[in-house]
Amino acid sequence: MLGPVILAASRSDRMRRLVSAAPVTKQVVDRFIPGETVDEIVPIIEDLTAQGLELTMDVVGEDITTPEQAAAARDAYLELIDRLKGLELGTRAEMSVKLSMFGQALEGGHELALANVRPVVEAAAAIGTTVTLDAEDHTTLDSMFAIHEELRKDFPQTGCVIQAYLFRTEADARRLAANGSRVRIVKGAYKEPASVAHQDKAEIDKAYVRIMRILMEGSGYPMIGSHDPRLISIAQELAARAGRKLDEYEFQMLYGIRGDEHLRLAAEGHRMRVYTAYGTDWYGYFMRRLAEKPANLRFFVRSMLTR
Ligand code: FDA
Repeated sequence: MLGPVILAASRSDRMRRLVSAAPVTKQVVDRFIPGETVDEIVPIIEDLTAQGLELTMDVVGEDITTPEQAAAARDAYLELIDRLKGLELGTRAEMSVKLSMFGQALEGGHELALANVRPVVEAAAAIGTTVTLDAEDHTTLDSMFAIHEELRKDFPQTGCVIQAYLFRTEADARRLAANGSRVRIVKGAYKEPASVAHQDKAEIDKAYVRIMRILMEGSGYPMIGSHDPRLISIAQELAARAGRKLDEYEFQMLYGIRGDEHLRLAAEGHRMRVYTAYGTDWYGYFMRRLAEKPANLRFFVRSMLTR
């Protein structure tokens, strides 16, 4: 029951101010968002890749309110890509972006988000890597998929995310699997109404398995975004049945969650990509991590009380 309450709070400015000002917040936030600046995140990138892990980098931020903020978000990614150039990691460090941070919700937002994300995709391609478009709430997805299709005309490696909890996703998966796209499948992290999304965990898991099967049997590149051990072993089974080799799909998990599993899968020869977020506008990302596991919230509250 706590999850939906926390997700509602993730959209509240009052809660944002309260949580951001709490003295112990940073310590708890660091577990999921291990840096605020490029200088802080580069050593983390070096450390994780030295351990055989691959990365997808997220500059945290979403729901911006002015075109200037959208341009600043674009520039933050360009700064990161510029620093990655020197590390020569190629596709071992790709980018994940949220189009709401690039202006998607502003007036003329679809065109603005496309105009802001394109230079990021171009810069990523110039250093031999790529970008994946994250999936946000269901109202943003038609625009996200249209931008994805547009970017793929010049940069076919551009990926996108689909969410198993949405009723629409099996149809999206079929379309993307047939056109050879890179696709990350996740359960879904937003508060969605029963008119568009499964609410029951077991139903979401069943949908996830159906969608994985579609992706594994298709011609694209499936990226399995989950920490759920049952889904991970089903993914391995489906991949083997579809005749996919270990480098023809990958696992993805979030920084700070089940780190032992990241290393175990990498040691088994899997491509294991860690979604690593950094930056100062961490509130929405952090609250979604709390909502996924209420024990995180108890830890957060206990840290505040015992301080
Ligand atoms: P589930 O929530 O059932 O968790 C399985 C186990 O993992 C738990 O029992 C627990 O041990 C551990 N775990 C999971 N979440 C945890 C947490 N926050 N803290 C501590 N332990 C935790 N969503 C979205 O809507 N759009 C997107 O673009 C993305 N992008 C994305 C990228 C990547 C790489 C991942 C892994 C996930 C996303 N997500 C996402 C988030 C996703 O939708 C989902 O909310 C989380 O992955 C949690 O779901 P699981 O599949 O891990 O299963």
